[in-house]
Amino acid sequence: MAATKVLVVDDDLNIQRVLVFTLKQEGFEVLVASDGASGVEMAKNAEPDLILMDVAMPKLDGYAATQQIRMAEQGRRVPIIMLTSEADVGERVKGLRAGADDDIVKPFHPLELMARIKALLARGGGEDAAAQEQSTLGRLCVFYGAKGGVGTTTIAINTAIALTRDLKRRTGLIDANLQFGDMRVFLDLGLDTASIVNAIGEPDLDSDLLHKLMVRHHTGIELLLAPPSPEAADIVVERQRMHPEAFSNVLNLSRRLYDYTLVDMAKSIDDFNLQLFDEADVIFVVMTADLSCLKNVRLVLETMASLGYERSKVQLVLNRSNAYTGINVNNAESALGRQIDYQIINEYRGAISALNSGEPFMSSRPDSPLGRSVIEFARALDTELAAEPAAAR
Ligand SMILES: Nc1ncnc2c1ncn2[C@@H]1O[C@H](COP(=O)(O)OP(=O)(O)O)[C@@H](O)[C@H]1O
Ligand SMILES: [Mg+2]
Repeated sequence: MAATKVLVVDDDLNIQRVLVFTLKQEGFEVLVASDGASGVEMAKNAEPDLILMDVAMPKLDGYAATQQIRMAEQGRRVPIIMLTSEADVGERVKGLRAGADDDIVKPFHPLELMARIKALLARGGGEDAAAQEQSTLGRLCVFYGAKGGVGTTTIAINTAIALTRDLKRRTGLIDANLQFGDMRVFLDLGLDTASIVNAIGEPDLDSDLLHKLMVRHHTGIELLLAPPSPEAADIVVERQRMHPEAFSNVLNLSRRLYDYTLVDMAKSIDDFNLQLFDEADVIFVVMTADLSCLKNVRLVLETMASLGYERSKVQLVLNRSNAYTGINVNNAESALGRQIDYQIINEYRGAISALNSGEPFMSSRPDSPLGRSVIEFARALDTELAAEPAAAR
């Protein structure tokens, strides 16, 4: 088999040298262009399997070169990784919008670059996003805590991992806790990533671009993160208020990309959350068996009924079900006048040590009782939702 051909487009001689050395060591054939214009030429004539594209270059910068390469392409789409010197999200999104498939911030570790290259080659470049777009319309499942601290975020993350790993479902996770999203902490991710701010503010958002804005976690789940700061959250709220269809678009594109889109919601009942409730296929109300939670669940159920949702759209998930609270499942069910649909067991140590280490228990200890309990929930969810017809849209 011929060696995989990588085209390096960079004007910096030192970077050229390092990249050529690293890539050759990995068995790649390497071509080099020292400016954007010759990069475009070589992309056309040499048909590389992948391109590493610097941003700041003489003659033609990396954005323009990428755009020209994309415009000249017919059918086959070469994967392009931008080499940016900016950790600035705006700059990075600009590269992705120009048609890059991924980006990496300089200076980077050669191992990280190799991992990105291999991931991209394995994905088959940008082709699969388009193919996926036609074939799927996934389910939108939102997780709403009846009060703070009941385990909403924990369940959303670990269920997403179980769906991905154990059930082989493509799963996207959206952190819709606009002001105080926790996913970066729970999953040990940095602030310099794209977020829901970029997705909702992007006028030409398509599934390809949304896919690029999702952050890939090593467990296989892909995340659309919350805004990096509470101030940035205002941008999202404002945009949703003025253009609810922009938010709809984000959700629908995600349903095209993933079998399951799970959304971790904040507690407030505002326009943003009402739209999420409306668009969801299922609302999982997460609760524990204590009095204040039961009171809140009752209010939530009333609200859902007044919104005209079918009973089956709203499902109750009792977390920490076997923790001693003085209220058992039967008591809770009779207080609510309806069944608890799912239960997840209590395992305080497992949950908290996972949190502190930034490694979800579903990834580090899937065989623990808590891990098994969440897998069981994911299975039940999958069975339930696969059996239902897709929501008409
Ligand atoms: N099933 C469980 N057993 C024991 N502790 C849990 C369980 N689920 C969540 N926790 C713990 O509860 C706390 C709150 O969880 P979190 O997911 O942040 O809740 P929320 O998102 O509803 O505010 C965390 O310390 C978490 O480790
Ligand atoms: Mg939370």
